[in-house]
Amino acid sequence: MTSVQFTGLQACEILDSRGRPTLSVTAACGPRHTAAAVPSGASTGRSEAHERRDGDPSRYGGAGVLGAVDTVNSELRRLLCRRAWASLAELDAAMVELDGTADRRRLGANAILGVSMAAARMFAEAGEVPLWSWLRVTGTGPRMPVPHFNVLNGGAHAHTGLDFQEFMIAPVAAATTAAAIRAGAEIYAALRTLLAERGHSVGLGDEGGFAPEVTRPEDALHLLLRAIEDAGYPAGPDGVAIAIDPAASQFRQPDGSYLVNGHRHSSSELVQRYVQMVRDFPVWSIEDGMAEDDLSGWRELTAELGDRVQLVGDDNFVTSASRIARGAKLSVANAALIKLNQIGTVTETLDAIEICREHGYRQMISHRSGETADAFIADLAVGTGCGQLKAGAPARGERVAKYNRLLEIAARHPELPYGAAFDVRLG
Ligand code: PGA
Ligand code: ZN
Repeated sequence: MTSVQFTGLQACEILDSRGRPTLSVTAACGPRHTAAAVPSGASTGRSEAHERRDGDPSRYGGAGVLGAVDTVNSELRRLLCRRAWASLAELDAAMVELDGTADRRRLGANAILGVSMAAARMFAEAGEVPLWSWLRVTGTGPRMPVPHFNVLNGGAHAHTGLDFQEFMIAPVAAATTAAAIRAGAEIYAALRTLLAERGHSVGLGDEGGFAPEVTRPEDALHLLLRAIEDAGYPAGPDGVAIAIDPAASQFRQPDGSYLVNGHRHSSSELVQRYVQMVRDFPVWSIEDGMAEDDLSGWRELTAELGDRVQLVGDDNFVTSASRIARGAKLSVANAALIKLNQIGTVTETLDAIEICREHGYRQMISHRSGETADAFIADLAVGTGCGQLKAGAPARGERVAKYNRLLEIAARHPELPYGAAFDVRLG
């Protein structure tokens, strides 16, 4: 790896897709400049790395990030420019050490991640390779991921009566990235027509999916199925499959029950509701089906469906290699969601992916509900060859930025295979 001597680092406060402040970071190495912008979640896991905000109620209701910006422009700039870095891993470890807290509270995970992403881009430039080609993990070649388009938004992303957060369509059997993205956009258009015909709102949620006043998750699944068929695609593993992210921590009640469209479920009852959904609809992947602290519920879900459905841990794993390893020991889930800002550096994100591979867990690379036009995750999904990316609807600039980046990579590199690289056939 070519070592890099950075000569400058500059952050500033910008807005994310929800109109909340976040950071953009620019790194310099002589005449070369690279930049990155940091995403931000709404339905966050409790153990995520600390997103540092100013807490000054007179600015952005306390959500400003001027403190994190100042940290990049002072402490982190001094560290970065102090010497040449032989690798990103070395730089990321130095930032973590400088922070000195378990959850990146002092410097802020948002400050550290912005630097880590801009630095990754600089290492790629120094090596004269595209970012995706630089973002490799051992043992797997690059491939174009199956895009998971979140076309119906509920939960914390829409504030309608729909308790489940995400309803996604995944063109698992498309031949190419271009065909997959076309399918996503055509089904999205068909869903819009369907909703309008039925008198539903076609307003959008945070991730660009529609946010109609539908309350039963099964009714939302019916709408997706209908839209897939209306657009002329076969629904299921030979065409377009469905993935859901209920984000169950959000509708878990203090007494441990789950409240879904007015029905109170025990963990076992919720598991059985998923079992029925998988029978009735081509749902191939369920993320956060149980709340992050419902270990026995997670184990029951995994025992019931783990052999035929992808079960993705998000809030419980928070892209942490050690949490994923512990989950694997306890037979919790069979896949992990991968979000850079949950853990705070690019290196640790790649570590989490490596751990998944060691334990036979699949990985899905993910955006956050608060995004920017930065398409880093598209490159991450391609380079690591994990086979799946979720980046919201095929609409709204901050979402299509990721899909458009996939289209560009695919056009320039037709030799990269498309698809999941594993069997998505439902049991
Ligand atoms: P978040 O949601 O970015 O609001 O946390 C995404 C998810 O739960 O997967
Ligand atoms: Zn999630």
